[in-house]
Amino acid sequence: MDSFVYRNPTKLIFGEGQVQEHLAEELKQFGTRVLLVYGGGSIKKNGLYDEVTSLLQEHGLEVHELGGVEPNPRLSTVRKGIETAREHDVDVLLAVGGGSVIDAVKAIAAGSKYDGDVWDLVTKKAQAADALPFGTILTLAATGSEMNAGSVITNWETHEKYGWGSPHVFPAFSILDPLNTLSVPENHTVYGIVDMMTHVLEQYFHPQETTPLQEHMCEAVLKTVIETAPGLVQNLEDKERRAVVLYAGTIALNGTLQMGVRGDWASHNIEHAVSAVYDIPHAGGLAILFPQWMRHHRKLGRRKLVQLAERVWGIAPAGKSEDQLAEEGIQKLEQFWQSLGAPSRLADYDIDESRFDEMADKAMINGPFGNFNKLNKKDVLDILEASK
Ligand code: NZQ
Ligand code: ZN
Repeated sequence: MDSFVYRNPTKLIFGEGQVQEHLAEELKQFGTRVLLVYGGGSIKKNGLYDEVTSLLQEHGLEVHELGGVEPNPRLSTVRKGIETAREHDVDVLLAVGGGSVIDAVKAIAAGSKYDGDVWDLVTKKAQAADALPFGTILTLAATGSEMNAGSVITNWETHEKYGWGSPHVFPAFSILDPLNTLSVPENHTVYGIVDMMTHVLEQYFHPQETTPLQEHMCEAVLKTVIETAPGLVQNLEDKERRAVVLYAGTIALNGTLQMGVRGDWASHNIEHAVSAVYDIPHAGGLAILFPQWMRHHRKLGRRKLVQLAERVWGIAPAGKSEDQLAEEGIQKLEQFWQSLGAPSRLADYDIDESRFDEMADKAMINGPFGNFNKLNKKDVLDILEASK
C-alpha cells in the first residue's frame, strides 16, 4: 500500500431529530448571516424548508436564500450564489439537499473568496486559497459530498462537466437524519444506491498490492448495500434501511476506503463526459458504463474481478475458469442494478453513437486517465460502444 496522510475535518452529526438539536449552534459559531441554498423544491414539499427557516429565525439568524439548484448543478447558478453571498456579506452557507446542492455550495464558498471567475477553480486553472464556511443537511444518500472535499459543476453553455476539489471545501458540519431522506422517490433512491456502490468499486479497483483491509472494507460496504437495497426499494419509508444506506453513502466516499490506495475513477470521468452532453442522472450513466468498464478489464483485472465475484456475490469457483468467474460477477452486478430499476443501456436515455467521439474527446481532455489502468481514446470509444 502507499504512504498516506488522512485528515477529514467534517463534523458528522447522524440520527433522527439532529437538525433541531444541532443546526443553530453549529451555524452560530460562524456568525449570524446565513445563505440557505436548496434545489428545485423537494424540501418545500417535505416540510424541511419550513423546519429549517423557522429554526433559524427563532435563533435570530439573518437568512438569505438561493433556491433552484439543478441536478448536475450549473455554473450559472453558482455565479448567482456568489453574487448573493457577496451582496449580503454572509458569514456562513447552509446546503439543504442532495449532492448537487452541496457541490454548488462548495463552489459558491470557494468562489466567494476568489477574485477571478469561479470556473477557473473548477477547471483547475487556479486553486482555491480560502472559502466561506458551510454546513449541510443531506436529503439524499448518494454522493458522499457531505463529508468530502469534492464538487462537480457543469458549464451548460460549453457542455463541460468537471470534478474539482480543495481542502478548503470540506463541510464544517453535516447533519444526516434518515427521516429527511424518506421522501426521495424510487428512481433517485436507486440512483443513490448505484452511485455509492460505484464509489466503492472505483476504489476497489486500485493498482496497489497487499491491501487486504482496504479490500475487505470495500466488500463490507458493498455487501451491506446489496443486503439492504431491495427491501428499501420495496418500502421507501423504511427508516432503518434509509439509515443504513445513508451511512453507507458517506463511508463510500469520505476517504475511509482510499487510505493507502488510488482508486481508478475512469468510469466517473467517462460518465461526466456523457452527462455533460446529455444531462442524464449521474448514477444512471454509471449503471450503464461501470459493468462495461469491468468487461473491458477482464484480462488485466482478473484477480480483483474474481475476488469480487466470489466474496461479494458468493459465486462458487468450482469447475469455472477465472474468465467465467469474472464474467459471472459482472453479470450479477448488472442483474442487481436492473432488478432495482436502474438503466442498463445508453439507448435507455435515447443516446446513440452520433456523439461518442465528442464525449470521448471530453473524457480525454487531460490525456489518458484511470489509476487502475490508463484508458486512451480508443478504450473510451470501445466502452461507449459496448454500452449502446
Ligand atoms: O432539487 P430537489 O427538488 O431538491 O430534488 C432533488 C433532485 O431532483 C431530489 N431530492 C433530493 N433529496 C430529496 C429529493 N426528492 C425528494 N425528497 C428528498 N429528500 O433528487 C434529485 C437528485 O438530486 P441530486 O442532488 O442531483 O442527486 P445526487 O445527490 O445524486 O447528486 C448528483 C450530483 O453529484 C455529483 C454528480 O455528478 C451530480 O452532479 N457527484 C458529486 C460527488 C462529490 N461531490 O463527491 C461525487 C459523485 O460521484 C458525483 O459525481
Ligand atoms: Zn458518483
